[in-house]
Amino acid sequence: MTTSPPSRLARARALVVGVGGLGAPVAQFLAAAGVGTITLCDADRVDLTNLQRQILYATGDVGQPKVVAAAARLAAVNPHVALRQVPERVGGEALARLAAAADVVVTFWGRPRRRTAKAWIHQCGSVEEALAARAAGADAVIAQGVEAGGHVRGTTAAMELLAHVRAALPGDYPVLAAGGVADAADVAARLEAGADAVVSGTRFLMSDESGAHPAYKERSREAEETILTELFGVGWPARHRVIPNEATARWLRGDPRGPGWLRTFHAATAPLASRVPVGLQIRMAASQRTSRPLFGPAAATVGGPPSLVEAGPLYAGECIDRIDDIRPAGELVRELAG
Ligand SMILES: Cc1cc2nc3c(=O)[nH]c(=O)nc-3n(C[C@H](O)[C@H](O)[C@H](O)COP(=O)(O)O)c2cc1C
Repeated sequence: MTTSPPSRLARARALVVGVGGLGAPVAQFLAAAGVGTITLCDADRVDLTNLQRQILYATGDVGQPKVVAAAARLAAVNPHVALRQVPERVGGEALARLAAAADVVVTFWGRPRRRTAKAWIHQCGSVEEALAARAAGADAVIAQGVEAGGHVRGTTAAMELLAHVRAALPGDYPVLAAGGVADAADVAARLEAGADAVVSGTRFLMSDESGAHPAYKERSREAEETILTELFGVGWPARHRVIPNEATARWLRGDPRGPGWLRTFHAATAPLASRVPVGLQIRMAASQRTSRPLFGPAAATVGGPPSLVEAGPLYAGECIDRIDDIRPAGELVRELAG
């Protein structure tokens, strides 16, 4: 009999804060993928109203702490995974302590600040931000081009930003390139231009393993254009790239950014709205309707409210027009690597 060393995935540690509508499918995916240690943090107990959208739980779990019920389910998915249960609402110092146990912390938005003694990577949208991240001690930066899906920081195309960031930083400082990476040629072009690695989001949105709602994936498969908007800005008033849906058709007629009064409202309420606990944010997202312009950043996920497909953000990058298949993530990694 031979034994092989544990794979890198088996040695990896993941932290899931909030085992609800978003965290539960993520935890399931991590367990199925073979991540060695998963820490589950949630102070709530399973409620009857959770069952229809938090598919990890069953009727018999009602009343149990979510971390206990989730750990039992995940152990059945993969008995080799070590499950740590933290039945608390984590934030502040507790979050910093847990983040310190992760192998890499990637930050985006806000003042660049180290939150781990291990590897720290900061995603940036400009040369100035990249220089600030390095000055703050980041081990590497991600240069995100404006064509990227999800929240978008800068205004420069990926290849141009990469050239500028590369030129502004020392040759041995790691720079990763994000935005518009959908195939092996995109990867090769960025490595050729001096990137040490690439980051790809939209291509993996369209993988079997992604937790996006099936109707979100289907809309993305058909999509040929994206919109850079601020429409889904309750709690996070920043630009984000999405594909069109009923909400964008109704509210972006005059200006792709969204009505001026709505953006003013987002900016004014952000300090309060961004403090709403994740659990409540998810409950609020379930009540989002196309007719009511109170749109937060939660996207439609497996087990989440399907109404978000039309009344929530369908994040995707410009390269979505080149993607028309949904494939296993492992196959995509092999293909991208050439
Ligand atoms: C569906 C989706 C969700 C994203 N969510 C996040 C997020 O929560 N945090 C973050 O830092 N970046 C997020 N991003 C942006 C990525 O970090 C990355 O910049 C982007 O996906 C790269 O461009 P690409 O989408 O063209 O590959 C998201 C992107 C997509 C497509």
